Amino acid sequence: MRYGYFDDEAREYVVDTPLTPFPWINYLGNKDFFGLVSNTAGGYAFYKDAKFRRLTRYRYNNVPMDNGGRYYYINDNDTIWNPGFKPTQTELDSYECRHGLSYSRFISEKNGLSSNLLCFIPQDYWGEVHLLKLKNETDKPKTVKLFSFMEWCLWNAEDDMANFQRNFSTGEVEVEGSAIYHKTEYKERRDHFAFFSSNRKIDGFDTDRETFIGMHNGFHNPQVVKAGKATNSEAHGWSPIASHYIEVELAPGQEEEFVFILGYVENEADNKWESKGVINKEKALAMQEQFNTPGKVMAAFDELKDYWTGLLDNIQIDSDEEPLNRMVNIWNQYQCMVTFNMSRSASFFESGIGRGMGFRDSNQDLIGFVHQIPEKAKERILDIAATQFEDGGCYHQYQPLTKKGNHALGGDFNDDPLWLILSVTEYIKETGDFSILDEQVPFDNDESKAQSLLHHLKVSFYHVVNNLGPHNLPLIGRADWNDCLNLNCFSTDPNESFQTTGNKKGKTAESLMIAGLFVVYGKEYVELCNRIGNTEEAAAAQAEVANMETAIKEHGWDGDWYLRAYDYYGKKVGSNENEEGKIFIESQGWCSMAGVGLEEGMVEKALDSVKERLDTPYGIVLNNPAFTKYVIEYGEISTYPPGYKENAGIFCHNNPWVIIGETMIGRGDQAWDYFKKICPAYLEDISELHKVEPYVYCQMIAGKDAFKPGEGKNSWLSGTAAWNFYTITQYILGIRTSYDGLEIDPCIPSDWKGFKVKRKYRGANYHIEVVNPNKVSKGVKTISVNGQVLDNNIIPVQSSGDYQVVVTMG
Ligand code: GLC
Ligand code: GLC
Repeated sequence: MRYGYFDDEAREYVVDTPLTPFPWINYLGNKDFFGLVSNTAGGYAFYKDAKFRRLTRYRYNNVPMDNGGRYYYINDNDTIWNPGFKPTQTELDSYECRHGLSYSRFISEKNGLSSNLLCFIPQDYWGEVHLLKLKNETDKPKTVKLFSFMEWCLWNAEDDMANFQRNFSTGEVEVEGSAIYHKTEYKERRDHFAFFSSNRKIDGFDTDRETFIGMHNGFHNPQVVKAGKATNSEAHGWSPIASHYIEVELAPGQEEEFVFILGYVENEADNKWESKGVINKEKALAMQEQFNTPGKVMAAFDELKDYWTGLLDNIQIDSDEEPLNRMVNIWNQYQCMVTFNMSRSASFFESGIGRGMGFRDSNQDLIGFVHQIPEKAKERILDIAATQFEDGGCYHQYQPLTKKGNHALGGDFNDDPLWLILSVTEYIKETGDFSILDEQVPFDNDESKAQSLLHHLKVSFYHVVNNLGPHNLPLIGRADWNDCLNLNCFSTDPNESFQTTGNKKGKTAESLMIAGLFVVYGKEYVELCNRIGNTEEAAAAQAEVANMETAIKEHGWDGDWYLRAYDYYGKKVGSNENEEGKIFIESQGWCSMAGVGLEEGMVEKALDSVKERLDTPYGIVLNNPAFTKYVIEYGEISTYPPGYKENAGIFCHNNPWVIIGETMIGRGDQAWDYFKKICPAYLEDISELHKVEPYVYCQMIAGKDAFKPGEGKNSWLSGTAAWNFYTITQYILGIRTSYDGLEIDPCIPSDWKGFKVKRKYRGANYHIEVVNPNKVSKGVKTISVNGQVLDNNIIPVQSSGDYQVVVTMG
């Protein structure tokens, strides 16, 4: 069942009923100021950091699920409704929510009054702009009462939902003209305030929540809206809100437009006040003026659209698969940008207060957006690398506002350092910018300890070499990529975090996933060293990589697949000998990608075992059989009910590793089959089961052991977005970046006739047409560039111009 449709022309997903199986959300903002907005106008806004600078209040875990947001109430002759359906839930005569790229639009109608509400954040602007149009579609005059509504968060989102003894007494507001200012804590330690303004003369306002809503009412029936008149209430403590009241007269056919702005302002410490107790509103007024007419708003909206066209233009494909085209051309690229901005901090599954930027997460995310915004990718790499320690280890996370490592969480996730080699080498392959290696980057944010980025890569590589266990395999530390395989944790206390607890100091638990990862990125490090003429270092590193391959073959092979790990006691994890958790996906993916034992047939065998034991109609599960009891020496993985999350859920992030493995042995049909199973646009028809948005990847789909296999969760903020984009473009379609140019190596379903790709790369435009006359999955027979046949499959780098490339497979 569908709850809407893709409008590819407009680059929108059109939700055509408010009654989706879960809130289907979108993100506003691309730089400093952000908003989350659901298909019923729920959500919130923040400046840079969803924990420390939250502008509007949102209650996770609420009933109904999505309650609180940017609400406009319309009282039309005592019928009260909202353009986004909620919170009144008054049945609408028509409803549409159009989620576009960094904007959302709500188009609805009730009793002959139509409304069109556009929400977005203009480029380089610290505020959300709402353009609301109301039109009288009848032949009689109408008088309607319009109320806006926004509830302020007292800035620190965590404190805001816990510290009531203080917070019920601190709230402060000011009202001037048509703007309501939120200035809680401004008089002491904050240099920032927020405002909610209207470009129209208002007929009243409210700023005290209980007065507006009524102590015993709810968002769905605020007493002020019911009464049809604002009270001009002033909040002193309790819960400050912002609501404008405007009386609107509409002649038959008449349309009126209103601009509302939710803005954020910072003032210098010595320039905070206009007069005693009255905030300096100079910047706020300038912001309000900037968008005080619908014309100005629409100009900024066009600019936003052009920005996106420019970004997406870097890769555009044309295949016979419509859902694939829309994913690659629009939605997957869009989601990669959102993960760049949010990491794992704020979604409808991430509260915005728990997690900052992850070291491994952000490095992996980079492979999804480096082609769009290489300069920002570079900045991101340098920020991440600065949270590394001198021995190559690193903080697991850092806060976006301070860019400093998160002490509470610490480090010792032994896969972390290797992902830096991934991001840096992918950055160079995209841009050709080797100079990034010379950037001086601090350790632990201490400038006095700065070293070149190349040195950071070296210590990343040797962090693994210096932390090997009894089988010469990498020690796992607290966990590797799988946050829940906690082999040194041994927790019996339900209040301990599995991620930060290490009750045993183990020098035995080893990870085959890190081993495979090390071979893949170790080889990348070797190649990089060779490229820059560091041949001695390359040779030394190559010897370590070879040792690791030997260790994997000797101690990491279970007969039909790669082991997953050795536990604290030195016992096998992910072996046929185990009763549960006999086989895991991660080591199959990474050791296959590394090609360990390729000639001996290990890769093919491992991938066949994945197919046999882990494949399901909804994707590949993480492990099998699922754990049914708590295994103290494995940690969190065995706490989840079977089929969920890391315990045999379809953890989408790691499916592409197997897909890449399949492409490396040329099995294009299998690769495509796996790809389609988790690709959201192909799941649109089962939305009632899948539950989450059909336009973005989710982190997890319930696996075959779950109560409801196929049900998706944790949409939006997942490394799945970047890995799938990388996999489809570089390994299935096979347009791969390399140091020397675009390497062409498709691995597609054998019944594809071919496809086209437009790719901007290092200043030149390539119009690539791949034809597949002999119905093969892999193998390039000839490549011609502007009619000239190449003698290998790498299109040499050009600094400008347009090139017609014809690739014949066979
Ligand atoms: C979450 C984390 C990621 C981790 C994954 C698997 O998505 O953000 O860092 O690798 O779970 O546990
Ligand atoms: C839980 C989740 C995992 C996530 C981690 C973050 O362990 O299962 O996916 O990465 O929390 O702290």
